[in-house]
Amino acid sequence: MGEIAIGAEEDLLARFGRYMNPGLARSFSFMGLARPEVRAEGAWVWDGEGERYLDFGAGYGVQVVGYRHPRLVAAAVRQLETGMALGSRVLLSQPAVDLAQRLAECTPGELERSFFVNSGAEAVEAAVKFARLSTGRAGIVATLGAYHGKTMGALSVSGRRVYREPFEPLLPGVRHVPFGDAAALEAAVDEGTAAVIVEPVQGEGGVIVPPDGYLARVRAACDRVGARMIVDEVQTGMGRTGPLWAVEHEPGVVPDYLCAAKGLGGGLVPIGAVVGTPAATAFLDRMPLIHTSTFGGGPLACTVASATLDLLRELDLGERVAAVGARARSRLEALAARHPSLVREVRGRGLMLAVEVTAPGVAGMVMAQLFARRVLVAHTLNNERVLRLLPPLTVTDEEMEIALAAFDAAFAATADEAADLLVGEGEAADA
Ligand SMILES: Cc1ncc(COP(=O)(O)O)c(C=O)c1O
Repeated sequence: MGEIAIGAEEDLLARFGRYMNPGLARSFSFMGLARPEVRAEGAWVWDGEGERYLDFGAGYGVQVVGYRHPRLVAAAVRQLETGMALGSRVLLSQPAVDLAQRLAECTPGELERSFFVNSGAEAVEAAVKFARLSTGRAGIVATLGAYHGKTMGALSVSGRRVYREPFEPLLPGVRHVPFGDAAALEAAVDEGTAAVIVEPVQGEGGVIVPPDGYLARVRAACDRVGARMIVDEVQTGMGRTGPLWAVEHEPGVVPDYLCAAKGLGGGLVPIGAVVGTPAATAFLDRMPLIHTSTFGGGPLACTVASATLDLLRELDLGERVAAVGARARSRLEALAARHPSLVREVRGRGLMLAVEVTAPGVAGMVMAQLFARRVLVAHTLNNERVLRLLPPLTVTDEEMEIALAAFDAAFAATADEAADLLVGEGEAADA
């Protein structure tokens, strides 16, 4: 086997294109992002040349307490040195039981039984299977614009055509209704419905906050026919919108299954969970091995997840997340008001914020301008016009100021460039 040359960043980009993904290599290049990341701390990521970047994408929202939080690193090191990373799967695992108990205690109502996986999509797969199993029905009602992951089952309930069509036929019996439209959802739910799956705030769909009372009406629609309610908190959970779970914005609404992942691993380990009520997981009594995962619920991942939940409880960030998020939102709105040709809307809840620009091309240009100022953001997978801010929940006021100043400068720098693009698009639309 030949030597692998670790050298100039061009080499890395070329090798990324050759050995991993040529299309993505082109967009890294276009965005001016052909830099290797080498380390990270808190809200900051460093490249190989010692340049640092303020990360407001936080690994697609994973870094809820910032990169490499010392408490979590210490918990992981202790578990590696004195315990085990992966279990035998034959003996009982205390870290898994401890985490399951914590999740039972911190999730709403009767949610108390956890099944552990390694990603958000797997949590959704499990929830959909559990709903079908526990109802004996096959129908699923999902929402347009939803993002639940890209494995076949999760993709089937996701709501964006471009990702779905190449893989059809997907799961049968899935119906999509507009997100936030309770009446449309109520009309779609019937005696054949196993479950309704919703995000409390659509993330990849463009950070869409539903009207107040929406989740309660989803719950009632499910109850009317005995269907399960699946709440996908993969992105909204772990304090992202203020409370630990976004479903808590509507007190009293308790889903049958709650899916968690992303921030559950504290930014150190991949882990996901579906937490169900005893009634919605009763089948495990008869069929304990009906759904399994080799890596799911490993001791290292569970130890870090428990430490993350404990840390979030101690930090008690809910009110700060709401306040910092609201302040950032109004500051962004003020910046946006100066650039109506660029920005259509600023929205969000807590530290899940979105800037919707007027065209996908504008999003790329603003992002490139932000990267040039060493601020990292991502656009949403189901809506390329939306730039998403998911900073660590521990973001400081000073870091927020740096990001807002970068947005100010990025909007200004994009304005001239975008003028040409928008004229071009307007002409194309008229043609
Ligand atoms: C709401 C939601 N569900 C599921 C997923 C899929 O998670 P993963 O990429 O870990 O499979 C995502 C990922 O962004 C998500 O935002």
